[in-house]
Amino acid sequence: MKIIVIIPTYNEKANIEKMVPLLEKDILPRIKNHQMGILIADDSSPDGTRGVVEKYMKEYKNLFLLEGNKEGLGAAYARAMRYAIDKLDAYAVIEFDADFQHDPHDLPRLVAAMDESYDYVIGSRYIPGGAIPKEWGLHRKILSKFGGLFARIVWMNFSIHDITSGFKLTKSEYLKKVDLEHLYSKAFAYKLHVLHDVVKMGAKVKEIPIIFYERKEGVSKINKKESFESMFVVLRLKFDDSVRIIKFLFVGGTGFIVQLLAQEGSARLLHFPDSFAVGIGAEMAILSNFLINHFWTFSDTHHIKESSSFWMKLVKFNIASLGSIIIQVAAIWLAELALGPNMHIYGFMVKTRIAILFPAIIFLVIPLNYIIYNKIIWKTQYLKKNLIVEENRVL
Ligand code: GDD
Ligand code: MN
Repeated sequence: MKIIVIIPTYNEKANIEKMVPLLEKDILPRIKNHQMGILIADDSSPDGTRGVVEKYMKEYKNLFLLEGNKEGLGAAYARAMRYAIDKLDAYAVIEFDADFQHDPHDLPRLVAAMDESYDYVIGSRYIPGGAIPKEWGLHRKILSKFGGLFARIVWMNFSIHDITSGFKLTKSEYLKKVDLEHLYSKAFAYKLHVLHDVVKMGAKVKEIPIIFYERKEGVSKINKKESFESMFVVLRLKFDDSVRIIKFLFVGGTGFIVQLLAQEGSARLLHFPDSFAVGIGAEMAILSNFLINHFWTFSDTHHIKESSSFWMKLVKFNIASLGSIIIQVAAIWLAELALGPNMHIYGFMVKTRIAILFPAIIFLVIPLNYIIYNKIIWKTQYLKKNLIVEENRVL
């Protein structure tokens, strides 16, 4: 398979001068079962990095150069990844720094992990065997660790230990599905966006320990504003992921209004008996909730072949709604059995049925409905699989 090592450069002449021959002569020939290539993504470095690469290109036919304007590390990677996939037909790409902070000798280990059938391999500084430069002061160590911790907490994903690593391998079949032209950052935080999307698609992830060395030549291009931008990108991606639940809650709210309108309308305007009007109100709310959820909250699930027909979904939705009523009745019945018809809260006497209704709805009915809608009615769990199956067909 063809694997492209992408090396972004901005004023890395001294490093590239040593890195290219080391990779070409010593490291890449060790990876015998793949066709390896190097793509330098240079941003018109004023120090003449380009000239060095062009000189080496005469010697090494698997060395490529992509020039651009300096927009940031993320922009350079997005451009280079697109080029590696579309023009160089890469099966996988590796993100790799020019400045020897990543040990070139670790490259074969990343590829070996891919050969073990992993889709996304992360060179990790924060697992046993990995390390950050011992020369770093406490402040820098904490800052480095904090960035990743923030993402892990916000995303509630603790299975990946080094979120901000700049050394990784990604199979193109996943990268192709990432909207590289619209990443939320053109700078260092691009990597959070790519990682988030690739993991969400269900890629098989492996972390392998790496030692991250101190830079020897040239200067770092990272600056303080990167950490704020990273936090912003993490939150924005979390918001995207929460859109479904926000819509679901909103639909629940509209249902309440529909119920009230239908109930009062049929009682006052059509003079239906009260109990009948309540029934109409409830069923109207169920219907409108179903329709809005189907055509809005879950509109991205219509193509899923594992899910049932529109009418079957409507039946299931009605059953789930009935279930919600039963849960509320049961919760209040049990609470009254245990606590009596009245409760004392901070010295106030409150009816148990009122005190229990809100927690029952918030902690039981809403979460349970959300799970049932996702798993049983609209089957969002097949969204991930579909992506990959589709991809296999294309390949
Ligand atoms: N083309 C291009 N354009 N290359 C860039 C740009 C840019 O705007 N900014 C940085 N680079 C290149 C550098 O020339 C170097 O090869 C590589 O990207 C990494 O840049 P550094 O400036 O050395 O980054 P760092 O050492 O501070 O950050 C490293 O560690 C971080 C985690 O601690 C990188 O690996 C980051 O990706 C990683 O998050
Ligand atoms: Mn560096």
